[in-house]
Amino acid sequence: MQNDSGKTTSIWMTTAQVPDQPVLTENIHADVCIVGAGIAGMSTAYMLSREGKSVVVLDDGAIGGGQTARTTAHLSNVLSHRYYELEQIHGQDNAKLIAQSHTTAINTIEAIATREKIDCDLERLHGYLFPPDLQSTDEIKRELAAVHRLGLTDVELINKAPSLDIDTGLCLRFPHQGQFDPLKYLSGLAAAIQRQGGKIYTNTHVEKISGGATAHVETSNGRVVTANAVVVATNSPISNLATMHFKQAPYITYVIGAKVPRGSIPKALYWDTLDPYHYIRLQSIDEQSDVLIVGGEDHKTGQADDADARYARLEAWTKERFPMAQDIVYRWSGQVMNADDGIAYIGKNPLDEENSYIVTGDTGIGMTHGTIAGLLLTDMILGRKNDWEKVYDPLRVRVGATGEFLFENVNVALQYLDWVTPGEVDAVEKITPSTGAIVRRGLTKVAAYRDENGTLHEHSAVCTHLKCIVAWNSAEKTWDCPCHGSRFDAQGKVINGPAIDGLAPVEQ
Ligand SMILES: Cc1cc2nc3c(=O)[nH]c(=O)nc-3n(C[C@H](O)[C@H](O)[C@H](O)COP(=O)(O)OP(=O)(O)OC[C@H]3O[C@@H](n4cnc5c(N)ncnc54)[C@H](O)[C@@H]3O)c2cc1C
Ligand code: FES
Repeated sequence: MQNDSGKTTSIWMTTAQVPDQPVLTENIHADVCIVGAGIAGMSTAYMLSREGKSVVVLDDGAIGGGQTARTTAHLSNVLSHRYYELEQIHGQDNAKLIAQSHTTAINTIEAIATREKIDCDLERLHGYLFPPDLQSTDEIKRELAAVHRLGLTDVELINKAPSLDIDTGLCLRFPHQGQFDPLKYLSGLAAAIQRQGGKIYTNTHVEKISGGATAHVETSNGRVVTANAVVVATNSPISNLATMHFKQAPYITYVIGAKVPRGSIPKALYWDTLDPYHYIRLQSIDEQSDVLIVGGEDHKTGQADDADARYARLEAWTKERFPMAQDIVYRWSGQVMNADDGIAYIGKNPLDEENSYIVTGDTGIGMTHGTIAGLLLTDMILGRKNDWEKVYDPLRVRVGATGEFLFENVNVALQYLDWVTPGEVDAVEKITPSTGAIVRRGLTKVAAYRDENGTLHEHSAVCTHLKCIVAWNSAEKTWDCPCHGSRFDAQGKVINGPAIDGLAPVEQ
C-alpha cells in the first residue's frame, strides 16, 4: 500500500517490471523527439517508429512512472461527461467522432497487444453505467438516446447493474469495453519501439523545448535533442506557460483495492453517474483472489488534505454495494487534468512555432485519449488528413464549456489569496517528523518538511509555474499547487508539470 518513501503504490507498480533505460548523455538528432513516456508518449513513439520515423523518447522518471502507473486502466468509450452533454458542447458530428475515436482506441490497443504479443492481461468485457439511486434514472434514459444517435447502437438499457448488492434501477450496458495492465503494456511498447530503431532515455529531465524547422529539446544535464518535430506528452504540458492551463483543471482522485474471493463478482467495468463518480473494476491476483478496484472522491489538487477520510468513504461505499469485499490491500491516488469541455487537447501547441505538438486534458480517460494521441499525432506529423484533428484541436473554443471555464479560472484566481493568509503553523518546531506545513516568513511563505530523521528541509512555497502557493499533501508526501496542478516531492523536486523547475531552496 505504501512504499518506503511513504507514498502510496498502485497495483500495477507491484505486478509489472518496467525495464530500466539509460540517461541521455550525448546530443542526438531524431525525426521526432517525444517528451514523456506515459501512455500518450509511448503510443505516439510506437506508431511513428512503426511508420519508419526515428524517435527519441525522454522521461525524467521511469517508463510509465507518471499517472499511467496510477490509473485504474479501464479501456472505455464511456467518458467522464455524458454523451448528451458532449453533443451539446461539441455538436452532433463532433460527438460522433469522439465516440468513434475512443472505440477505435480500444481496438487499437487490442491490435497492438496481439501484434506485438504483449502479455498485459488484456480482457474485453461489458461496462455498466448506473445511477446512484432509483430516483436518478432520467440521466440514463437521456444518455441511451444520445449514444444511439451517435452510433453506439449496441448499448442496451437493462433493469439493474449486475453484481451490486443494491438495486440501482435502470442502467446502461456498454459492450466491448476492456481492461489491461498498463505497465505491462508499456513494457511491450518499449520493446517494440526499440526493435523499430527508437531510443528511450529515462531519468532525463527536460528543461526547455522549442519548435520550428528544427525543434530543440534541452535536458537539465545540458544535452540537446534536435528533431524535425517535438511531441510534449508530459500529461500537463511543460512547453505551454499559460493557454492550456486556463482550459483545464487538475483534480486528485483516490483508489482502494479490496480483496474479494476469485469469481465472486463477474469481471466488468462499472461507473455511477455521480460527480465525482465512482469507477470500479476487478483484477485477478492469484488462484483464490481478485482485487476489487474502486476509485472516486476527487477534489481539486492542493485544495484538500483529508485522504484518510476519502479512503474511508470509498471503503464504506464499496462494502455497502459489494459485501464480499474483504481487506483493503491497496490505497493510492493520482492526478487527472480535466478539460473544460470534457475531451483531451491533442495537436499543435498554440504557444510554439511549427512542428511542436502537445497532448493534455484527458479528463481521467487517459488510456484511450493517449492512444488517440498516438494515432492523430502520427497522421499530423506524416502530413496525413485525420477527421479527429479539429475535434481535439488544442485551440478549439466551445461556447457550451464557458461556464466550466469561468468556474475553474475564478477558483484559480482565489488561490492567490494564499499570499496574504497566515502560515499553517507559526513555528517550524511544531512540524513533526514525516510531515510538512506552510510557514509565513515576512512577505513570503516557506514549504517546510521535516523528514523521518527529524531534519528540516525548507523551500520557497511559491510554485515555479505562475507563483501560487503550494499545499502539503500528507498522503503522497508532496507539495501540490492548487492552481494548475504542478506537484513537487517533499524535497522540492518537480514531479508534475506545468512547472519545469523545482521549488527554490531557502537559505538557512
Ligand atoms: C487514480 C487514477 C485512475 C485513473 N483511471 C483511469 C482509467 O480507468 N481509464 C483511463 O483511461 N484513464 C484513467 N486515468 C487517467 C490516466 O491514468 C492518465 O490520464 C494517463 O495515464 C495519462 O497518461 P500520459 O501519458 O498523458 O501522462 P503520464 O503517464 O503522467 O506521463 C507523462 C510523463 O511525462 C514525464 N515528464 C513530466 N515532466 C517531464 C520533464 N520536464 N522532463 C521529462 N519528462 C517529464 C513524467 O515523468 C511522466 O512519465 C486515471 C488516472 C488516475 C490518477
Ligand atoms: S501550477 Fe500554475 S501556479 Fe502552480
